[in-house]
Amino acid sequence: MEVAKTVIVTGGSDGLGSALVDSLIVSGFRVVNISRRENDKAHVNILCDLSTTDGIKNAADSILRMSEPLRAIIHSAGVLSFGDTSSLDGGEYERVFNINTKAPMLITSQLFNKLKADESDIVIINSVAGIQSYPTQTLYNSSKAALHSYTKDLRETLSSTASRVIGVYPGMLDTSMAQKIPDGAMPKSKHPTIKPADLADYIVYTINLPKVMEVSDIVINRKKYSRFNEVQ
Ligand SMILES: NC(=O)c1ccc[n+]([C@@H]2O[C@H](COP(=O)([O-])OP(=O)(O)OC[C@H]3O[C@@H](n4cnc5c(N)ncnc54)[C@H](OP(=O)(O)O)[C@@H]3O)[C@@H](O)[C@H]2O)c1
Repeated sequence: MEVAKTVIVTGGSDGLGSALVDSLIVSGFRVVNISRRENDKAHVNILCDLSTTDGIKNAADSILRMSEPLRAIIHSAGVLSFGDTSSLDGGEYERVFNINTKAPMLITSQLFNKLKADESDIVIINSVAGIQSYPTQTLYNSSKAALHSYTKDLRETLSSTASRVIGVYPGMLDTSMAQKIPDGAMPKSKHPTIKPADLADYIVYTINLPKVMEVSDIVINRKKYSRFNEVQ
């Protein structure tokens, strides 16, 4: 079988997704970004709003029109939300779940036959918040916990195929995600955060591992040790 060189990255216009685009290009991959803004380094940009069902369908249809096989799809697009269980808002619920949970599930479903035929890996960027609840981010925790459950379900569904389903569960990253929440920017953490380029290189390294190595879940929390602020 031809070795596929194309990787799809959702949310490749910023943060971890943008670092993944850089790292994949260095590794010789052809990269397709899906987000609302372009990444001018990506070989192809599919501009879609993944918070809408039409946007999700447009993204999947655009990929299905591409003739080349896919090496992997990396679902990185995501949004953060703050607020505890006493102040839930329906609009915010939909924003967070649509992008964090519904988009990766529906895009994968719409591409399912192609991903299986191409023996593509499916990398799902989750969060440590998907396996452990953190205070005052109820919607984010819940959207990622649902995504964690879906990841296990998908892995089971694809267990007798060559596709690997790799869940990635990082702690806080040094990106601008916390600056984009609707209620205003969060203050920067006083603890050191993970550099997106370091995590991106690790994910690309993992994709390049022989297929017989079924990496399932990668949990990388940040080590809260203040001296790391000075040495990194
Ligand atoms: N930052 C952290 O501390 C942290 C920790 C653990 C896990 N994560 C996870 O890592 C992933 C990446 O986060 P990040 O920190 O890199 O965030 P980021 O810097 O804010 O980037 C988010 C990306 O998602 C895309 N996106 C957001 N809403 C979208 C929409 N409606 N339609 C299409 N694309 C959309 C954005 O593209 P456009 O704006 O161009 O549409 C952007 O490329 C997320 O899944 C997040 O949950 C982050």
